[in-house]
Amino acid sequence: MAEGIALLATTKAGRYAEALPQLESLVADEPDLIANLANITAVLRACLPIASWVGFYITRGGELVLGPFQGNVACVRIAFGRGVCGTAAAERRTVIVPDVDQFPGHIACDAGSKSEIVVPIVVGDKVVAVLDLDSYELAAFDDVDAAWLAKVAAIAARFAW
Ligand code: SME
Repeated sequence: MAEGIALLATTKAGRYAEALPQLESLVADEPDLIANLANITAVLRACLPIASWVGFYITRGGELVLGPFQGNVACVRIAFGRGVCGTAAAERRTVIVPDVDQFPGHIACDAGSKSEIVVPIVVGDKVVAVLDLDSYELAAFDDVDAAWLAKVAAIAARFAW
């Protein structure tokens, strides 16, 4: 465990395929929400060297509040409907932004960020959190990420929110 997770594949899909079962077993027997979210951010950061920031915003009192993350200091509160995170939460859909400068209302927590993907975590009819990944590269995220991160979101949806 001290060495981290084992990732040998060179393609993105291959790395996700290796990471997901390890992520599943990390969280399988642990009931603590924060511990599990924290480990997910570590697994995804290891899986995706292109990501500059990986983290959760958790729905609290009708807004999104910063949760466990890996990366630079980030904005703490985001209203539903604002920025990429708030849009994904309000519209309950994954939002892929290849160039953040082209996304009206993008919230620049880190001026170096160039692209982003946000995946909502839905329990019943409620968005309990969003999973946000940023990159210093343009167009770092695509449908491959959306498909695999949806699986991660489905695992997280089973946690005790
Ligand atoms: N860029 C996000 C804000 C969160 S940071 O990227 C960590 C947004 O527009 O919602």
